[in-house]
Amino acid sequence: MSAPVGIFDSGFGGLTVVRQFFETLPEESLAYFGDNARVPYGSRSQEEIQAFVLEVAAFLVGQGVKALVVACNTATAAALPALREAFSLPVVGIIEPGAKAAALATHSGEIAVIATEFTINSGSYQAAIKKYNPRAKVYGQACPLFVPFVEKGKLSGAEVEAAAGEYLSFLAATAVDTLVLGCTHYPHLLPVIRKVIGPDIKIIDPAEATVGTLKEILQEKGLLAPAGNVPQHRFYTSADPEQFRRLGQQLLGQPMDYVEQVPVKK
Ligand code: DGL
Repeated sequence: MSAPVGIFDSGFGGLTVVRQFFETLPEESLAYFGDNARVPYGSRSQEEIQAFVLEVAAFLVGQGVKALVVACNTATAAALPALREAFSLPVVGIIEPGAKAAALATHSGEIAVIATEFTINSGSYQAAIKKYNPRAKVYGQACPLFVPFVEKGKLSGAEVEAAAGEYLSFLAATAVDTLVLGCTHYPHLLPVIRKVIGPDIKIIDPAEATVGTLKEILQEKGLLAPAGNVPQHRFYTSADPEQFRRLGQQLLGQPMDYVEQVPVKK
């Protein structure tokens, strides 16, 4: 089936999932929605996030997508059951696949998750990791400055390093050997995060396992694009489309030919 896969986030974070999507499923078309007008989601209430997510998903479903990938941990934590109830197409969340990958990767049994305030406070990662590794000790740390840095295109420099140093300093007192980037914006800051934590801790980007899950579902349901399909990608943003294109292309490392602004409720 040559219909696109819908992937969405509160902003530029989901592009880290899109990168993985292009690598794993090069013949699939994409409809991406970045809700840049309402980012960040991570400091909002569940009610508000759920309303935003249902609105964005309804738009993508209206574009004829065959499946939805919630490329936002906060949206997954706040609204995955609501999405599955509202729409009858396959909906892939990002927390379960990432938690499983982390639970299986640790040797020390200590895992740290960095994410938005909402995701950390929801306990979703903690619960999902324990499902796969009941004895794991899970540390959660919110990093509220990271999303605004990425949305401004500020991916390195003294300010970003100082914030990362502060957020990640707790690791020194633990036996953590596995760090989950539990917000899709954070892989954009990977070089800084790696520099701050040193070479020994394994970093899990849930994007890889999430796109793997998507591929399995498309295969199982007979929804894969036909062999040789020439994909078409569309990017939608609720904010300024030219700004989205400029920074989006830089973050994605690929041109975005089709970018359209879609107004959302405030
Ligand atoms: N990228 C999102 C996530 O994965 C959330 C960022 C935000 O809007 O706070 O959690």
